[in-house]
This record gives sequence, C-alpha cells and structure tokens, in this order.
Amino acid sequence: MLRFLTAGESHGKGLVTIIDNFPSGVKIDEDFINEKLRLRQSGYGRGARQKIETDKIEFLSGVRGGLTTGSPISFFIKNKDYENWRERMDAFKPVAEESKIHTPRPGHADFAGSIKFGLDDIRNVLERSSARETASRVAVGAICQILLKNFGIEFASVVLGIGEIKVSEADINLFDETISRNIETSELRMPYREPEEKVKALIDKMKAEGDTVGGLITAQVKGVPVGIGSFTQWDEKLDAHIAMSVMSIQAIKSVEIGVGVKSAFLKGSECHDSIYYGKKQEKVKQEKGTDLKSVPFSSAFHRKTDNAGGIEGGMSNGEVINITCAMKPIPTLMKPYLDTVDLNTGEAKKAFLERSDVCAVPAASIVVESALAFSICYFFLKKFGGDSLSEIGRNYEGYVNK
Ligand SMILES: Cc1cc2nc3c(=O)[nH]c(=O)nc-3n(C[C@H](O)[C@H](O)[C@H](O)COP(=O)(O)O)c2cc1C
Repeated sequence: MLRFLTAGESHGKGLVTIIDNFPSGVKIDEDFINEKLRLRQSGYGRGARQKIETDKIEFLSGVRGGLTTGSPISFFIKNKDYENWRERMDAFKPVAEESKIHTPRPGHADFAGSIKFGLDDIRNVLERSSARETASRVAVGAICQILLKNFGIEFASVVLGIGEIKVSEADINLFDETISRNIETSELRMPYREPEEKVKALIDKMKAEGDTVGGLITAQVKGVPVGIGSFTQWDEKLDAHIAMSVMSIQAIKSVEIGVGVKSAFLKGSECHDSIYYGKKQEKVKQEKGTDLKSVPFSSAFHRKTDNAGGIEGGMSNGEVINITCAMKPIPTLMKPYLDTVDLNTGEAKKAFLERSDVCAVPAASIVVESALAFSICYFFLKKFGGDSLSEIGRNYEGYVNK
C-alpha cells in the first residue's frame, strides 16, 4: 500500500517526507518536481515568505542513479527562513515568555490545537498546521505523476474563480492546448486572460483593507484506465479517497466530483452519462491500424458527457476525472477584524497579525492536483501493483489489452 508521512514546522529547519511502497525502476525527473514546487510558491497575492524561499527537493534515500530503488523514498525541503527563526525554533533553548502567543486566530488550528495538546504557546500549533507542509505534498504528488506518466496518465489544475469573480465552469477542458498555455503563463493560473485584471484588482483591494479572499479550483486527470478503486467496500472507493486527500489540504472546504452539488438539481435523465460503443474504437483502429478485436477494451466505450466526473460506483470509468473544490479565505488577517480571547486569562482581544498570504488559491490549485495524483497513484498501484515499474507494466498491459 502506497503511503507517505510528512514532518516539519513552518519556521523549523525544513520538511522531511517519507514515501513507502513506491516501486523500483521509475526514472525521477528532479526538474519536474522542482517546477511543481515553484508553482506552489507562486501566484498573485502571496505574502513575503515566498520571496525568502526557493523550494528544492533533496533526496535522502530510495533514489540511486536517477532511478527509484524500491526502498522507502525520503527527501528534505529546506526552510531558508529558519535562519531568521533559529533562536525561537531551537529544540532546546527555553521559549521566552514574552514571545508566547495566547490569542487564537479564528479559522486556524490555534484554538482547538492548543487546548487538545495542552500547550501554553500557540506557536507550537501554528508551526505545524501551517500550509508550509503542502510543499511536501506537492513533491509527493509530483513523484506520483512521474510514475503515472509512464502509462499516459496526465494531470492539470486551474483556478475557476476568486472571491465572487467566477471565470469558468468546472467542465472546461484543461488539456486543450490554448487553455493549458494560458494556465501555465498566468499568475492566477486562470484559463482566460480577460478577467485577470479584475481579479488582481480584487486581491489588491483585499490587501489594502488588510483582508483576504478564497476561491474555486478544478483539477483533472486523463488516461486513467477503467476500474481503479472499487465498489466493494466504503474505504476502497476512489471518490471517497480523493475527497479525503483533497479535503485534508489546509483551507479546502468542499470537494465535488463531476457536477457535484449541481447533481441535486438535475433529473436522472439529464444527469447520467449515456454509454456508447464503437466510435472511439474506430478512431483507435485508424490510429493504430489494427483490427477491432485487438483494440484495448476500455478505449472502445465512451460517453458524450462527463457529469459523473469520471467516477461511478467508486471506480474510474475511463473518462476524465474532474474534481472541483472551494478554498476559504486565508484566516490570518492583516487588520484586527476578528474577535478572539486570551486563552490564559479569558480577556477579550483582537486576532493577532502574522505575516501572511492575501490569496493563495493559485498555489492551492497545485496542491489539489498533487493530492489527486496521490489518490490516483494509490489505486493504480493497488490494481496493477508490483515491486518494479516493469512488473506493473506487464500487469497493466495484461489488463487493458485483454
Ligand atoms: C497554499 C496555501 C497557503 C496558505 N497560506 C496561508 C497563510 O499565509 N496564512 C494563513 O493564515 N493561512 C494560510 N493557509 C490556510 C491555513 O493553513 C488553513 O486555513 C489553516 O491551517 C486551518 O485549516 P482549515 O482551514 O483546513 O480548517 C494557506 C493554505 C494553502 C493551501
């Protein structure tokens, strides 16, 4: 079973990650991983922290001569900002009383975290609950994407809207060349250029007001064969696993598969994706010059709509997997709008100010894509699992070409 663990604080020395049960023989492209890390740091509306960091992956184990060995993969991502926090984050130096934080920020882990762990300094919670941890998750997702690329599986993500400004519906084709180029060259990771100035103006206004803003994200994956995930147990369902992976990302507050919430308002005859056979098969036949019987069975079936978002009964159905999620506004505000209390005295206070992002939706889109990649890889390995890439390849071929 593929799994990973992360450790590390926002202003500690760095982040450590272990990925277990990753197969051998996968060629690791460091540039691809570092580019995803760069994208996670970028985006209009980020705070000053991103100017300090230039995240790079440093493998500690499990990769040799550019290939995974099958042993646990571990890696380190350094926090350059640690130099400015060395004293305060030291493992043994006593924490100065005056530096301790006792006023929890509403919307953050501060309140429940410090009560749960019996801590008298909220910094011990916020350092770990911070979205700095998402750098680890992006690297894990990138490593999963590298494996899945060997089987023609591709990922994409986009920002559909920020605050009240919605720029696209979720059923947009993220693999369209123009849209994909627009996303990659946009500071907002948006599919169209026209609304960008309006969105930037909104983020600037929020910044000037010391406020923050959230938004909507879509991520898609194409090329997933029919039948990963399962209908046989609740915790084997692909949609459930994706929901957990994505919902565990800091500030993500909803996960929809396909038309999601809208499905409640559609009739059955409008909602479900009719099944067709043959047309796509003809296309494959022309492309490959083969006779129909030798065409992979899963390429022969197709839908004209994808309201199900590529998942039915907890399994991939061969269509594009499409998820949409909402990110709430960043909870640290630069002006004292929110009321809170001193946890030691009960005294009424305003939420304290910590350097922060105004809007991190473009960055979060990369994290969502990465979480999706982990879930897909988890079930892909469950279905085709083997200890090496070549063994997985044989299992995959045996299944899709039967
Ligand atoms: C990419 C990214 C960047 C974030 N940046 C900040 C930030 O600068 N300041 C902040 O207070 N919250 C930030 N958050 C959100 C908080 O980490 C999150 O709201 C908090 O941990 C509480 O978790 P919850 O919102 O899931 O309940 C960010 C989230 C993501 C995904």
